[in-house]
Amino acid sequence: MGNVFEEIIELKRDKNAIILSHFYQDEKIQMIADFIGDSLELSRKAAVIDKDIIVFCGVHFMAETAKLLNPTKKVLLPDLNAGCSLADNCSATELLAFKLKNPQYKIVTYINCSAEVKALSDVVCTSSNAKQIIESFPINQQILFAPDRNLGAYLQTQVSHDLEIWDGACIVHEAFSIQKIIDIRLKFPEALILAHPESESSILKLAQFIGSTSQMIRFVTEHPKETFIVATEAGILLKMKELAPHATIIPAPVYEDNTCACSECAYMKVNTLEKVRDCLLNESPEIVIDSNIAELARKPIDKMLTLSI
Ligand code: 13P
Ligand code: SF4
Repeated sequence: MGNVFEEIIELKRDKNAIILSHFYQDEKIQMIADFIGDSLELSRKAAVIDKDIIVFCGVHFMAETAKLLNPTKKVLLPDLNAGCSLADNCSATELLAFKLKNPQYKIVTYINCSAEVKALSDVVCTSSNAKQIIESFPINQQILFAPDRNLGAYLQTQVSHDLEIWDGACIVHEAFSIQKIIDIRLKFPEALILAHPESESSILKLAQFIGSTSQMIRFVTEHPKETFIVATEAGILLKMKELAPHATIIPAPVYEDNTCACSECAYMKVNTLEKVRDCLLNESPEIVIDSNIAELARKPIDKMLTLSI
C-alpha cells in the first residue's frame, strides 16, 4: 500500500495533477486527496483549479460537473462505473417529455444527475443550498424538483413554493432501518441523530440535524454533545472522527445486515487507490462531454454558484 501512495504522489507531481475526493470515498483515497468536500464545495474547488489534470474521486456526475466548470482541464474518474442511483432515476428523455408537456414549470435539479439532464434544467442545487435556490423563485412559480423524492419532500416542508417532485431516490439513504436507529437511541439517550436529506421522511423526523455531508461534519465538530448517530454513507466517519476525536459517532444501521451494518455506496466504492494510480498513469478514463450539451449544462450550474455565494 505504501508504494501505491508514493507512486500517486510522484505521478501527481510529474503530471501537474490534483486529487479531489468526496467524503464517501474509501479511506485510503481520502488520505491521499488534496481536497475533500461535499458536492457544492467540490464544484467550487473544481472551478478554480489551475493544474493540468483533475483526478476526481467521487461518482460520474461529480466528475462531469468538474469538467463542465473547468473545461480546459483533463478530468479523470478512476472508474467510469462510479454511477449514482439518483442520476439513473432521471433520464434526459423523461425530463424532456415533462418539459414539453409542462412548459410553465421551472426545472430545479439536484446536482446528482447527468450533464444531459442538467442541460434541460433552469438551475442546479445541492443538499446544502437547495432551499436557497428554490426560494430564489417567486412564490407562485411552478417548480419541478428532480430527481430525489426524499430531498424534494423535505424541501416541501421548508419552502412555501408548491413543488412537483420527481420519483427518484438514493438507494444508500433509503437503506436505514428506523427500528434499529430507535434501538440505538434507547441505548444512548444522549445521542443526537443527524441525517442527510436524501433519507426517508421517517428518518428525517427523528433527526435533530439535517444537512449535507460537510454540514453534518461541522455540526459534530462544533456541538458540545458527544454522541451522534449519523444517517448517511459510512465514508463520512473518517473525517468526523478526525475532527471530533472525543465524540462517539455511531453509523445508522441498515435494514439488511451487511459487512459494516452501516450504509455504503457501492458506486463510490468502485474507485480504489490502485485505480487512482492507474488513471493518473494512463490519463484515462477521461470525462468527455459533447460540446453542445456542455454549453447548456454549464448554465444552470453557474446559476447555482451565483445564487449561493
Ligand atoms: P453532499 O456531499 O452534497 O451532501 O452529497 C451527498 C451525496 O449523496 C453525494 O452523492
Ligand atoms: Fe448516488 Fe446515493 Fe451514492 Fe450519493 S450515496 S452517489 S446519491 S447512490
